[in-house]
Amino acid sequence: MSKLRTAIIGSGQIAQVTHIPNYQSMEHAEIAGICDTNIDTARIAAEKFGIKNYYDSHRTMLEELKPDAVIICVPNKFHCSITLEALELGCHVFCEKPPAITAKEAEKMAAKAKEKGKILSYGFHFRASEHIAFLRSRIAAGKMGTIYHTEVKWHRRRGIPGWGCFTNKEIQGGGPLIDIGAHMLDCALYLLDYPEISYACASSSDRIGKTSGVGLMGAWNPSRFTVEDGIFGYIRFADGTSLDLQTSFAINRREKDVRSVKLFGSKEGAELFPLEIYGEEGGQLVNLAFPFMEMRDWHMDLDVNFVNACLGTEEPLVTAEQGAYIQKLICGLYESAETGKPVIF
Ligand SMILES: NC(=O)c1ccc[n+]([C@@H]2O[C@H](COP(=O)([O-])OP(=O)(O)OC[C@H]3O[C@@H](n4cnc5c(N)ncnc54)[C@H](O)[C@@H]3O)[C@@H](O)[C@H]2O)c1
Repeated sequence: MSKLRTAIIGSGQIAQVTHIPNYQSMEHAEIAGICDTNIDTARIAAEKFGIKNYYDSHRTMLEELKPDAVIICVPNKFHCSITLEALELGCHVFCEKPPAITAKEAEKMAAKAKEKGKILSYGFHFRASEHIAFLRSRIAAGKMGTIYHTEVKWHRRRGIPGWGCFTNKEIQGGGPLIDIGAHMLDCALYLLDYPEISYACASSSDRIGKTSGVGLMGAWNPSRFTVEDGIFGYIRFADGTSLDLQTSFAINRREKDVRSVKLFGSKEGAELFPLEIYGEEGGQLVNLAFPFMEMRDWHMDLDVNFVNACLGTEEPLVTAEQGAYIQKLICGLYESAETGKPVIF
C-alpha cells in the first residue's frame, strides 16, 4: 500500500495534541510540511515533531510540496477558503469541525469536492466510536423500533475557553453550539440518518459570558465575549421525529461537564456516552450496559479512516454532504435564537 503525503495547516492546539502525533504514528501516512500564519508557531511545532518543512503561507506550502492531502486546523472563519483552495490544487481535505461559518460555505465546499473528485471529511470524531457503530447496527436491525425523539446535550458548568478565538463570533461563527454541541448533534443526526428537517427554533443567552467569573478552562475576557454561552433548541423533522438540543460553555447546574445523546424508540431507548440500552424482555424491564466498551479519544480512529479513504481502502466516515447538512441546521438554530422565530427549512 502506498503512503499518503500530508501537510498540516494551522499548528495550534488540536494539530499538536492530536493530528500530528496521530499521523506520525501511522504506517501509511507522513507529514511533509506544516504551516501557520504565525511563523514562530509553525517553526516551534516543526522542531518539536521533526517536520522538515514549515511555512507561514499555506499557498506556498501547497505549491511547493504538492501534498496528497491536507489537515486543516485553523479557526472556523478560514475553513471554507482554505478548503476550496486545497481542493482546487488537487488535495484531499480533512477539515476540523465545524465545516464552516455559513450553510452556503459548507455547500460550496461539498460541491467543490464533488467537482474535483476528492475526499472532503470533517473532524466529528465522536462518531468513530464503537458505541455509535453498535447502536447504528441495532437501529438498522429494527431492535429499537421507531425512534421518535432525541435529546442532545453538551454542557460545561464553567468551560468558556480562555485561549484562542472561541468567544469571538466573527472568527468562530458562534459559541458552544458550533464548537461542542455540534459533536453531539452530529452523533444524533448520524444515528437518525439525516432526516428531512421541517423547522428549528432556539433561544440563547450570553449572560454569564458577558460577566467575569470563575473559569475552569482559563480566564475569558467578558468585554470580548460575542458568542452565546448557552443555547436551547428544538428541531422537528418531516417524519414527525423531534430533537431537543441544549449546550453551554457556562451554566449554573451541578455537573462540571455533561455530554450525552439519548434516543427514544418504540421498542428501546438508548443513551450515549457511555452506551446504555433500555428495554423489556421476558416480562421485565431491562437495562443493558457495555462495560468493555471504553470511553476514549476517537480522534485517532477518524484520522485512520481519512487516510484509508484517501488511499481508497475505506469509505469516509464523515462526508462533505453530511457536513453541509449539519452546518445548515446549526445556522438555522442560530438564526432562530437571533430572530425569536422558528426557521422553516
Ligand atoms: N475535533 C475536536 O474535538 C476539536 C478540538 C479543538 C479544536 N477543534 C477545531 O480545530 C480548529 C483549530 O482549533 P485549535 O484549538 O487548534 O485553535 P488554536 O487557536 O490553538 O490554533 C489555531 C492555529 O491556526 C493558526 N491560523 C490562524 N489562521 C490561519 C491561516 N489562515 N493559515 C494558517 N494558520 C492559521 C493560528 O495562528 C493558530 O496557531 C477550530 O476549527 C476548532 O473548532 C476541533
